Amino acid sequence: MAACRINPSILSADFANLQAELERIRSADAVHVDVMDNHFVPNLTLGLPVVKRIQEVSPLPLDVHLMIEDADRWAPAYAELGAASVTFHAEASAAPVRLARELRAGGSRAGMALRPATPVEPYLDMLGELDLLLVMTVEPGFGGQAFLDLTLPKIRRAATVIRGASLALAIQVDGGITEETIGRAAEAGATVFVAGSSVYGAEDASAAIDRLRRAAFRP
Ligand code: DX5
Ligand code: ZN
Repeated sequence: MAACRINPSILSADFANLQAELERIRSADAVHVDVMDNHFVPNLTLGLPVVKRIQEVSPLPLDVHLMIEDADRWAPAYAELGAASVTFHAEASAAPVRLARELRAGGSRAGMALRPATPVEPYLDMLGELDLLLVMTVEPGFGGQAFLDLTLPKIRRAATVIRGASLALAIQVDGGITEETIGRAAEAGATVFVAGSSVYGAEDASAAIDRLRRAAFRP
C-alpha cells in the first residue's frame, strides 16, 4: 500500500476547546492548521500567537496552511515557532523560491499551495525546492465544501513530473475529502490528505481517520 497521511483540519474543530480537540485526533499523522487573514480569503481564523500555543500543546506535528497575503513577509515566523511544515499560496508570494528556502532554513518543510484554477506548469522548475505541493480541491476559505473533480488532472500532471524527476515532494490535497472522494485523489497521485468536516464532524474522530485511510487505497 502506498504511504498515506491523514491530517485533520482544526478549522472544523471546536475553537473554544482546542486542546481537547487535538486529543481526539491522536491517531492522525499531523494537525492541519488553517491561517486566514480575511484578504487572501474571505474568512478570518487565527494567527501567530494562537498557532504558537497550539504548537506547545499539540501531541501531533503541525501542518500550517497559510491563506494570507504577503506570505513572503509572514510565513517564516511559522517555521521558526516549530511547525513541521509551512505551506504558503503561490498566488500570495512574490518570490516563492526564496520563501521555500527560508522555510527550510527555519527548520520546517516547505509547502506551496495552488488554488483550483492555478496551473502547476509555471512552477514545475521549482518543485525541487519544495517538500509538499498542496493542490486545493476546493476554493480556499471555508470547510464543508464539495470536492472539485476538475483538480484531478492537475494532480496527475504534477505526480507524473515528480515521478519522472525522482523528486521527494509529496502531493497534498485539501477540501472536500471524504470516504467517497479520497480514493479519486489518491488514484491521481496524492498521498497527504487534509480532512476537516469528515473527521471533526464524526462522533468518533479516530474511527473516521481509520475509515479515510482504508478508503484511500481500496483495491
Ligand atoms: C479550506 C481549508 C481546509 C478546510 C477543509 O480552505 O484550507 O483545510 O478545513 O475542510 P473540509 O475537509 O471540510 O473540506
Ligand atoms: Zn487547509
